[in-house]
Amino acid sequence: MRSRTVLTGLLVLAAIGINARSAAAQETVKIGIVIPMTGTSAAVGREISDATKLYVAQHGDTVAGKKIELLIRDDQSVPDNAKRLAQELIVNDKVNFLGAGLTPSAMSMAPIATEAKVATVVMVSGTSVVTERSPYYVRTSFTLGQQSGIIANWALKNGSKKAVSVLSDWAPGAEAGKAFEANFTKGGGQILDTLKVPLANPDFSPFLQRAHDLQPDTLFVFVPAGQAGTFARQFSERGLDKSGIRLIGPGDIVDDDDLPTTGDALLGVVTAGLYSAAHPSQLNKNYAAAYKKATGHRANFISVGGYDGMDLIYRALQKTNGNTEADAAIGAMKGMKWESPRGPISIDPSTRDIVQNIYIRKVEKVEGEPWAIEFETFPAVKDPLKEAAAH
Ligand code: PHB
Repeated sequence: MRSRTVLTGLLVLAAIGINARSAAAQETVKIGIVIPMTGTSAAVGREISDATKLYVAQHGDTVAGKKIELLIRDDQSVPDNAKRLAQELIVNDKVNFLGAGLTPSAMSMAPIATEAKVATVVMVSGTSVVTERSPYYVRTSFTLGQQSGIIANWALKNGSKKAVSVLSDWAPGAEAGKAFEANFTKGGGQILDTLKVPLANPDFSPFLQRAHDLQPDTLFVFVPAGQAGTFARQFSERGLDKSGIRLIGPGDIVDDDDLPTTGDALLGVVTAGLYSAAHPSQLNKNYAAAYKKATGHRANFISVGGYDGMDLIYRALQKTNGNTEADAAIGAMKGMKWESPRGPISIDPSTRDIVQNIYIRKVEKVEGEPWAIEFETFPAVKDPLKEAAAH
């Protein structure tokens, strides 16, 4: 009760601050992004931080006459930290927009964004329900369902009959498994087992051994960004890359940030994903080259969530002529359509969720390095869990 009262008090102060700010001519638009810069998901934070800064460097720090200021805060992947940092960004720094990261943190920040009325771009989370937690949430990342149902259908069409799922044991893993297994069994496939691997410091070996022993023809795997390298190493150490079992998954298991260090372990792996650094558009060639030049890393599917999140905020500010008030900003974002390095994207006006192409890709070696090479496109895919609920 007590912390609730303190929280409400802070939010009232924040609301007064917001009114005072919008009354005066506002010169600076502050965007506060809460992501893990340290800890097990530090790679995700680095990618969002790098991509958002790259966007500002390329497009300038002035929009609709306002100066853009980025404030990046490290939540160490701890949801309570994310909530406190979001509160501090609103009350002390008087941010006009928030950026949210991983699912648990995005969930814990949602009531703060709602009560203080701050438009928030979800740049990482891939869990369907997150956008329903606040009317001021808009997503530029992805959902696991968007990718996992499509790869199930592809596998069935290509002869898969018996699958084992290996899933990182948290909300996005559960959703990946749910979407995969629903489509796979609907199409006549059989799920032999669903194995859940702890999220923190995972050891995949015993799970891979168990999966191998069940003799499936197909292994569906979800590991989050930052774990594909470890997974690939243990996968080939167990000899699974030579076992004849087909490895499939959402794009996370062939994360471009890790692919260059995976040698031959993932060659031939087919995934359904939203972004490959090898996406052949001119816009992406420019993006991937600029990202590499600025950071030394290959651009990946997490980075585009941050880059497009900034693009969405810039586009909304142009449309509202610099008005950052949450209802106006979110109103401007609904239905927004543009070209991302990943391909054409839009914001679904009824769900505030991203609509994007999902590509089927195969890992191939090009000029000595593995890349996810796109060979089939499913255009304008919505989050299937919300679609199912709406019909
Ligand atoms: C999430 O926070 O939902 C998330 C993070 C990383 C991933 C997928 C999902 O690769």
